Amino acid sequence: MIKVLFATSEVAPLIKTGGLADVSGALPAALRAIGVDVRVLIPGYPQVWAQVGAVQSIAEFTHLAGFPASRLFLGTIPNNDVPLLILDCPVLFQRNGGPYQNPTGSDWEDNPLRFGLLSKVAALLGSDNSPIEWIPDVVHCNDWQTGLVPAYLHFDPAARARSVMTVHNLAFQGNFAPPTLSTLGLPAQSFGVNGAEFYGHFSFLKAGLFFADQLTTVSPTYAQEIQQAALGFGMQGLLHTRAADFTGILNGIDMDEWNPATDHHLPAHYKMGKMTGKKVNKVALQTQLGLTVDETIPLLGVVSRLTHQKGLDLLLEIAPRLTELSAQLVILGSGDAGMQQTARDLAAQYPDKIAVKIGFSETLSHQIEAGADLFIMPSRFEPCGLNQFYSQRYGTPPVVHATGGLADSVVDCTAETLKDGTASGFVFNGMTAENLYQTIARAISVYQDSRKWQTLRKLCMNKDFRWETSAEAYRQVYISALENPRSPE
Ligand code: ADP
Ligand code: GLC
Repeated sequence: MIKVLFATSEVAPLIKTGGLADVSGALPAALRAIGVDVRVLIPGYPQVWAQVGAVQSIAEFTHLAGFPASRLFLGTIPNNDVPLLILDCPVLFQRNGGPYQNPTGSDWEDNPLRFGLLSKVAALLGSDNSPIEWIPDVVHCNDWQTGLVPAYLHFDPAARARSVMTVHNLAFQGNFAPPTLSTLGLPAQSFGVNGAEFYGHFSFLKAGLFFADQLTTVSPTYAQEIQQAALGFGMQGLLHTRAADFTGILNGIDMDEWNPATDHHLPAHYKMGKMTGKKVNKVALQTQLGLTVDETIPLLGVVSRLTHQKGLDLLLEIAPRLTELSAQLVILGSGDAGMQQTARDLAAQYPDKIAVKIGFSETLSHQIEAGADLFIMPSRFEPCGLNQFYSQRYGTPPVVHATGGLADSVVDCTAETLKDGTASGFVFNGMTAENLYQTIARAISVYQDSRKWQTLRKLCMNKDFRWETSAEAYRQVYISALENPRSPE
């Protein structure tokens, strides 16, 4: 049985800022189900300690050069009983705020040290010097926060484990001023073009992409896109030279957590053939948000980080025109201050048509998936995206820009695709406000044709997004990492 240490900076339901948490909560369970012996490693943030239940202390690290003392605890992820290793280092992780930022939204200044320690411990656990008996064959690293693991393993003669580096979002690279190096316990030669150096900065992600035995990202289309300049964020050259060791594997979803027939966040349940509950959810949502209560008005939903990546500036631009189509809009999200303000202003201007909730709410996110008629995701780029899966499962066809994982998981609704049974939403090419507007207008005209609409909704809800197939693809990547170790010059 392959042993895998899954190192991550967030895991649902314990701590979540985005899709990485959903993946870290669900993929390890799916891997265990196909016989991979996975343990998850996560920092001991207050949010983790508050929810994790019983743990046992299993190791202490008092002499890691450059790092404060830390300890390792063993517990399990609530919901699925996957073994969870919690890295306890109160001076670095026990703080009020988020995993990466303080309560006012600035990055923690010592992030290199915080995630350097996470990476260092992950690598140590994959070496002969590990204080615990269970030694992984592979350390599976996720995003820049664990990008130094492959570098530590590379420079450690006692290293045993191979490494796999997964890119969930290439826009986040963990680039810091070079002096960082001395505090991280890496040799000087790690900071070179063949290493962590990236345009004069020390880059956690670049180190991972350079030293890992295998690379993956979260959809086949994004794997292609980031080998080119437009979406490569400067890493396209490296990714292209590593193309033979680089796989795009589409994310799955937790089909139990996201199930409209059992979802405990919903006022009413529904499933295919018994759709009345969906209307109840819509009316409840309109009521709760102070929108005109009318189940015939098309209701558009958004749950998202409000950032340039997600393209919601285009949606805000056309929002007044959408109200003229007599559509309603609900937005749940937080992020960019300017976008938050524009959204709030629109809600104030159209109180019975546009509702905006700034913040993070798991419950409201499920209620929007269930209560809306259409789900809007005009992302400029999207490594995978998860909400388009959730919305299909909830019978809420997504409207998406043809990019990354959105292109891989939504099939545009046309007479043909409705007939051959592949339609699952509405897709536009060309990232302009006009294209988005035209596509939403087209979606609304299908919504108004109840036969077509029922067919489309049924096709969406029939889709299978469970993790099994992707988990099997990850197993193959682990095998490749074991069979073809990287030997960088
Ligand atoms: P990303 O990870 O880039 O933000 P994904 O679509 O992969 O995008 O995942 C986002 C996840 O975070 C989804 O589960 C989504 O429902 C959730 N999410 C985003 N913003 C919010 C919010 N304001 N409240 C609740 N959940 C949110
Ligand atoms: C990132 C990406 C998102 C992806 C998620 C999980 O946050 O932005 O597209 O779904 O990671 O892989």
